[in-house]
Amino acid sequence: MDIIAGDINSVYKKKESAIAINKVNIIYGTHTGNTMMLSDEVEEKVDELGFNAQVEDMEDFEIDALPHVQVLLVLESTDGEGDQPLMSEDLFDYLNENEPDLSHIHYSVLALGDTSYDFFCKAGKDFDALLERLGAIRIADRVDCDVDYEEGYEVWMENVVNALKELKEA
Ligand SMILES: Cc1cc2nc3c(=O)[nH]c(=O)nc-3n(C[C@H](O)[C@H](O)[C@H](O)COP(=O)(O)O)c2cc1C
Repeated sequence: MDIIAGDINSVYKKKESAIAINKVNIIYGTHTGNTMMLSDEVEEKVDELGFNAQVEDMEDFEIDALPHVQVLLVLESTDGEGDQPLMSEDLFDYLNENEPDLSHIHYSVLALGDTSYDFFCKAGKDFDALLERLGAIRIADRVDCDVDYEEGYEVWMENVVNALKELKEA
């Protein structure tokens, strides 16, 4: 069968619209509530860009939803001595042990911590490294925030917003 240019273009158009990015999952791991609070601010910003944003704590996040995730924004604090917050452990361990292919996911991590601890922001660093290992595409560099996290958050958010705008236009 001959394929004419018009056919090819319409095939590509269909393919593009099938993978249009319109959903952003925001997940957080918290011990004292900071990443939870920031996640609501992130949701607002992401909604303003015209995406459908959904915020969940990591305990509520359904692992079965992973194949449908397009963009994953992870806000992770560090607990204990460089540990994941309790609510993050199941998701982290599942990903670490089962190693699903996440190459369809665009992601970025905001890490909250405290430089007075030996393992500064280790949980966020570990999450970032894990997602990279599983093939996910980092759309904005991780930012590691000290106790006064507002400035780091603003920088990260601006980078994420710019990356999301690019994804939308792609
Ligand atoms: C019990 C406890 C242990 C902590 N351990 C670490 C740590 O090992 N490394 C680090 O960078 N920050 C550590 N922190 C600091 C928190 O990660 C930081 O205060 C963060 O902003 C808390 O965010 P959250 O309210 O979302 O849990 C610890 C805080 C607490 C209360």
